[in-house]
Amino acid sequence: MGLFLLPDSLGSKQSFNLVRRELPITTRYLIRFSILLLRQRTWFITLLQALIVLGSLVFAWLLRFDFSLPDRRVLLAAAVVLPLVRLATFAKFNLLHGWWQYTGVSDAWDITKAILSGTALFWAAMTILPAARGFPRSVFILEMILSGVFLSGIRLLSRVVAESIRTDEASGKKVILIGAGFAAQMIIREFTRQGSGYRVIACLDDDPTKQGIRIQGVPVFGPVSQLKAVLRERHADEVLIAVPSATGAQMRRFVDACNHANVSFRTVPTLRDIIAGHVTVSQLREVSLEDLLGREPVQIDLESVQKGIAGTTVVVTGAAGSIGSELCRQILDYDPARLVCLDQSETGLFYLRLELERHQNGAQVELRVADVTDRERVQYLLSEFKPEVIFHAAAYKHVPLMESNVQEAVKNNVLGLLGLLDLADQEGCRSFVLISSDKAVNPTNVMGATKRICELILSSRPPNGMRCVSVRFGNVLGSNGSVIPVLKQQLRNHEPLTVTHPEIKRFFMMTREAVALVLQAFTIGRHGDVLVLDMGEPVRILDLAHTLIRLSGKSEHDVEIRFTGLREGEKLKEELFYEHEKVIPTSCPKIKRTSGTPKEWSRLSRQLDELRASMNIDGAAPVRAKIKEIVPAYRYLENLQEENVSSLLTENLARRASAHD
Ligand SMILES: NC(=O)c1ccc[n+]([C@@H]2O[C@H](COP(=O)([O-])OP(=O)(O)OC[C@H]3O[C@@H](n4cnc5c(N)ncnc54)[C@H](O)[C@@H]3O)[C@@H](O)[C@H]2O)c1
Repeated sequence: MGLFLLPDSLGSKQSFNLVRRELPITTRYLIRFSILLLRQRTWFITLLQALIVLGSLVFAWLLRFDFSLPDRRVLLAAAVVLPLVRLATFAKFNLLHGWWQYTGVSDAWDITKAILSGTALFWAAMTILPAARGFPRSVFILEMILSGVFLSGIRLLSRVVAESIRTDEASGKKVILIGAGFAAQMIIREFTRQGSGYRVIACLDDDPTKQGIRIQGVPVFGPVSQLKAVLRERHADEVLIAVPSATGAQMRRFVDACNHANVSFRTVPTLRDIIAGHVTVSQLREVSLEDLLGREPVQIDLESVQKGIAGTTVVVTGAAGSIGSELCRQILDYDPARLVCLDQSETGLFYLRLELERHQNGAQVELRVADVTDRERVQYLLSEFKPEVIFHAAAYKHVPLMESNVQEAVKNNVLGLLGLLDLADQEGCRSFVLISSDKAVNPTNVMGATKRICELILSSRPPNGMRCVSVRFGNVLGSNGSVIPVLKQQLRNHEPLTVTHPEIKRFFMMTREAVALVLQAFTIGRHGDVLVLDMGEPVRILDLAHTLIRLSGKSEHDVEIRFTGLREGEKLKEELFYEHEKVIPTSCPKIKRTSGTPKEWSRLSRQLDELRASMNIDGAAPVRAKIKEIVPAYRYLENLQEENVSSLLTENLARRASAHD
């Protein structure tokens, strides 16, 4: 019908006012009566049911005596006793409420039980009462049937009327909310506006004190694990997770409940975004992997970061990359005088410029195409800008690729850093922060080993007035070429998902979170420190793949997961610390300090010269051997010295595993 808006609770005053004046008077009265029925007024519902019982009794009498009313004394006695007995049994079976728009199978069963037990009591009363002697047995049966039919019928009618008068009945999506808190209230209010296209039919909450209440007329059930059962009773088109403050574990449980119930789901923005005023609670969105990993927002000492960056010139190398670009965005929030974004990728810088235009925040932003291994170019830039702080994120990072490009990994990651450090020193830079990686710990690949050499360089180099700090952490979600974008791409292309090993695990962190902690580490790090970010528990990549499948709305049976085998240099599990490293807490609970086990600088310099020299000899073996000398923990397949065999094998493996870290 779509006659009028049906807001917070059926039968509220607004509903009366919204009955369209132009409707025929009989229709208007019918609707008003229906609304009255659906109100939760117990006195009205009790009276109406008493009248129905009375009517059924008289009707049964008329049927029994050919539409005449003999033995009126007996009938009168029954007319007093029967409604009282029936109301008592209705009260016992909780049938004196008016939520008939939600009538279901359970109500029909309650009516049956109330009618049968009421008839038994009524029969007992009529045999005891002297005034009721001679009550016809057939009327017991007839009245029982008529009362049952009328009481069920009026409930059914109420439900039909309620359903038909709801706004947007034809087009509105029926939704169930997970959560019955503040966000749920806002959503219900928002969705009851005319034309919202949604109708909230129930809420589910784990809090037992909320279960059984109503929010603006919407019943609250629970716990959330009951979603499937609730959906069986009340069909919904979609579930909305209305818990903006949900932790990752809660989100995973909600998503599991939705998947178990086989219903599509979305969620509301996070509390942080709502508080920041970027979005409103009813701006629905897909559940993301970040929600499921849902790490708590990091608390950092903004003032100390502001003090370290405000008014300075900051250089970010690898600025167009995943970590570098986030560093640029966040650094601009702390009012640097000038931000120099340096990268060898021209296209990357082009896109970075577009993004930073929105972020500029009054700072002078310079974008420079430069290769950090190009000494002349870097010297020119550093003498032009004279940075006080450098964040060094430029590096090669793909493990399998670097296995077949060993010299390039060393040239870019190690020699690039060495040149940059010397020039930064010369130009009076005060702080240098290296972005390291968990792959630097007990490395089994060249990429990780070069990162470890970089850490050792920073810890061992004499300070000369420049504070050098390494920040070590595991994977960030969704970075270029990492496992998640690759799996997402495979899902989009309807290809099998490639996972190297069923047990492979990785640490994961949000890029925003990792970079916020890098900035904090920059303020607390002392010269030579290796600061390690708290990454939480490692996550199984296979579990991630399953989660991505579920989030994509596909069934796990539809998508094949193919195990491609560990690639060369790849570990099952990364570590964050060496065994010998002392883990020292810092002022930030999410950052730990290790001294970085400095080497004697003159010895390390000599070894680095030898490493550089080894790159001129054919093949990767001498380079690997030199790396092993500097980083004894580095493990690699010594028998793969035949370069042809090595490159063939690694390229082959890399291709098979779709090149993600
Ligand atoms: N992505 C992660 O999950 C992660 C986690 C921990 C540590 N890290 C480390 O952070 C660093 C950056 O990682 P990312 O994910 O941002 O990588 P990325 O590939 O997205 O970015 C690296 C950027 O550095 C640039 N670059 C490389 N060599 C350069 C050179 N010689 N001169 C100038 N620019 C150069 C590239 O063009 C690229 O834009 C790497 O050292 C990586 O090991 C990354």
